[in-house]
Amino acid sequence: MLRIVVLVSGGGTNLQAIIDKVADGSVENTQIVGVISNNPGVKSIERAEKAGIPACVISPKSYGDREQFHEALLSQIEAYAPDLIVLAGFLVKIPAEMIRRYEGRIINIHPSLIPSFCGVGYYGLKVHEKALERGVKLTGATVHFVTEGMDEGPIIAQKAVEVLEGDTPEILQRRVMEQAEWVILPQAICDIACGRIEVRDGKVCRKA
Ligand code: GAR
Repeated sequence: MLRIVVLVSGGGTNLQAIIDKVADGSVENTQIVGVISNNPGVKSIERAEKAGIPACVISPKSYGDREQFHEALLSQIEAYAPDLIVLAGFLVKIPAEMIRRYEGRIINIHPSLIPSFCGVGYYGLKVHEKALERGVKLTGATVHFVTEGMDEGPIIAQKAVEVLEGDTPEILQRRVMEQAEWVILPQAICDIACGRIEVRDGKVCRKA
């Protein structure tokens, strides 16, 4: 059984997609052992509690400095003893120490086709605003392993989504979530849980 911890910051629709697909058996061999939010009072916490999953808030505002926040985050993650950490809309920079400690065991969902519209300053709705500003006709989502370079780790899965005439950032965000994020994130977790993928030369490959 792959033990996963899901890190969130807000609404938690990706968390919900994972919860639902673990519950209905389409994500196999996986147990969600904990949810951590950096923001108090968000819907993600409600979603976790409703599903009977231990959830807690580790907010930077409760600590004197960034280092103390990072220590608290790491020790809570360690308490859950996960095999995989899933960043599902976690809009906080991941401490380098955590990336080193969990090398190859952290994945992230990003709402664009990396390497477009990613890196510093590209998160949440902002990504869709930039895509509409640029006038792209296709966008999508990417699941990737997390490395120290922001949004630079090996790509596990991508799915393209059409941009339509009259889209607002909110409408486009919803379509990217429905058609791409809620599909490829649970699928990537299942692929890892079932040992179907490996990283070779910095690229994700299906095992023979
Ligand atoms: C999602 O669109 C996710 O891809 C994005 O935040 C949103 C969270 O929504 N993540 C990033 O932008 C990371 N750079 P959710 O809380 O409803 O899952």
